[in-house]
Amino acid sequence: MGEQNEPLIRLENLVKIYDTGAIKVLGLKKINLTIERGEFVAIMGHSGSGKSTLMNILGCLDRPTLGHYFLDGEDTSAMTPDALSDIRNRKIGFVFQSFNLISRTSALKNVELPMTYARIPKARRTARAKELLERVGLGARKEHMPNELSGGQRQRVAIARALANEPPLILADEPTGNLDTAASVEIMELFTALHREGTTVVLVTHEEDIAAFAQRVIRFGDGRILSDEKNEAPAGGGDTGRAEGPAAGEEARHAD
Ligand SMILES: Nc1ncnc2c1ncn2[C@@H]1O[C@H](COP(=O)(O)OP(=O)(O)OP(=O)(O)O)[C@@H](O)[C@H]1O
Ligand SMILES: [Mg+2]
Repeated sequence: MGEQNEPLIRLENLVKIYDTGAIKVLGLKKINLTIERGEFVAIMGHSGSGKSTLMNILGCLDRPTLGHYFLDGEDTSAMTPDALSDIRNRKIGFVFQSFNLISRTSALKNVELPMTYARIPKARRTARAKELLERVGLGARKEHMPNELSGGQRQRVAIARALANEPPLILADEPTGNLDTAASVEIMELFTALHREGTTVVLVTHEEDIAAFAQRVIRFGDGRILSDEKNEAPAGGGDTGRAEGPAAGEEARHAD
């Protein structure tokens, strides 16, 4: 368990240098960033600005060259590859642009897979995978293979899989990049629902309409943070319905 008074993500003077031999590319230049538990954050920025570099580090798939990354209070910068893969399995769910499902394997088995790695007994993981597929609206598609599903449905399977081990953090790199508008909106509504339930969601997108679902938008340029702004009226309704008290929309009305 992490330190509850620590933010979920804290980056301290984080630098990533890609050393390709002939030249060194500065992927990230001294990033300082804090993301609290339960935030819903969109990362934007032009191609090559460092978004995927950041996501790879946040996902413990890559390590910073300099500086520190504290995940749930733990400094990942000095961790061994084994410790990193352990923290990744426990704390992070990934969603990719290209879904990355295992072909010729049912939706149900795809969702079960991370639980197999986590050594959850068969009966429990099947029950949980069914529950998760129902949760993402695919209760009737459990036995379908990925190639028997639409793009939006595949991405919903991928989200169910990302949730398998109940990670506090979901990372998504252009999750709607291969989807049409209607499917994209459905996926963003699903992320909004997860955020309402308390999951921290960080996603990369090139589209303003998609970023509009997040509570906070961070713009990157050339390996640096250019801006970091709160979105007071997220497209999916933000926190509406999360708390017992008045919904966000009502508060806004009282305020004027
Ligand atoms: N493995 C690598 N080796 C060398 N340079 C890299 C590597 N990965 C990324 N870079 C460089 O780091 C910089 C940031 O790349 P990154 O992939 O993070 O950009 P991005 O913002 O995700 O772009 P896109 O929107 O096109 O996905 C770029 O200049 C890129 O060329
Ligand atoms: Mg990228």
